Amino acid sequence: MQTELVKIDREQMSHHIMKRAGEILQNGGLVAFPTETVYGLGADALNEEAAQKIYAAKGRPSDNPLIVHIADMEALGRIAESIPKEAKALAEAFWPGPLTMIFRKKECVPSGTTGGLSTVAVRMPSDEIARELIRQGGGYIAAPSANVSGRPSPTTAQHVYEDMKGRIPMILDGGPVRIGLESTIVDLTEEHPVILRPGYITLSMIRSITGEAEVDRGLIADNSTVRPKAPGMKYRHYAPRAELWIVEGPMERVVSYINEKCSAFPGTGIICTEETREYYPDGVVKSIGSRKDERSIASHLFAVLREFDGEHVERIYSESFDTQGLGQAIMNRLLKAAGHQKIDVSEK
Ligand code: TXA
Ligand code: MG
Repeated sequence: MQTELVKIDREQMSHHIMKRAGEILQNGGLVAFPTETVYGLGADALNEEAAQKIYAAKGRPSDNPLIVHIADMEALGRIAESIPKEAKALAEAFWPGPLTMIFRKKECVPSGTTGGLSTVAVRMPSDEIARELIRQGGGYIAAPSANVSGRPSPTTAQHVYEDMKGRIPMILDGGPVRIGLESTIVDLTEEHPVILRPGYITLSMIRSITGEAEVDRGLIADNSTVRPKAPGMKYRHYAPRAELWIVEGPMERVVSYINEKCSAFPGTGIICTEETREYYPDGVVKSIGSRKDERSIASHLFAVLREFDGEHVERIYSESFDTQGLGQAIMNRLLKAAGHQKIDVSEK
């Protein structure tokens, strides 16, 4: 299959191209598109066969449900069995935007879209290209991140092309995404909202709207005996080809530990920040942004993990990050990429 990579100008969207992309979706095909979080791989969510094509293109396990993307509130009422008042308040506060909510599903949502679950994940993205594609494609677009299963999520159309070339007919190129980490997922089928995947919308932002809210215990438990509730959170993910370790402790000790490893293993990869870059004289050093601006770190993380795949690096050591606020999402993705390998260099 030929994969067409088409540039879209967000300010002046070509109606002709958006219509053509919508037709591919309506005919049961796949289109990759930008959202504000990461690029998505879209299919008609209400067409079971179409949604199944996503699993084949990504090599994704079929028990891992998809998020249904909508463009307006009326669409939510047609797929969610009931909409609790917390959900209405969260939608009011954060939609359109990087928040996904889990509801009990209506009959019309095929179980092929929800991995056999009786619940459905719904998100209203803010990216204009995504919204127009949803409208042109029939109103309900199932879309996981547009990477091959297990690889870092794509934050540019080129990342999508690397993974999906020959597997899908069309990629809409809207340039690099704004946020760079996937949406926060909140389960609204329990008594209180539960965060199943941390993201740009933080726990405290959610609590500011709903009062009570917590984080899924399966996410916090280190070597989890408690299973995460979002099926996708149990798989190793975002992994670069090289082995990755996260080094924790006071910054000076972290830097000297990583430099020791670098002398022992020439060609070691290092993930650092603007503040520490100059302290690493050797190795393949990549800064993911400034500690003063966590949003810049979030937006570069996946691209940096991908870049290492082109570098013939066998081991990578990364500095670690604060786990408050947006840092919680950053560390969640980094730890998953590292298969939870952490090294603590604090003095005991
Ligand atoms: O930002 C995002 O959410 C991006 C963009 C494209 O919108 N999408 C995305 O989709 O990250 P994906 O498929 O890569 O991740 C979806 C996550 C998986 O961990 C999946 O298990 C979980 O959502 N999920 C989906 N439906 C669920 C449900 N009904 N109950 C629990 N978890 C669910
Ligand atoms: Mg994904």
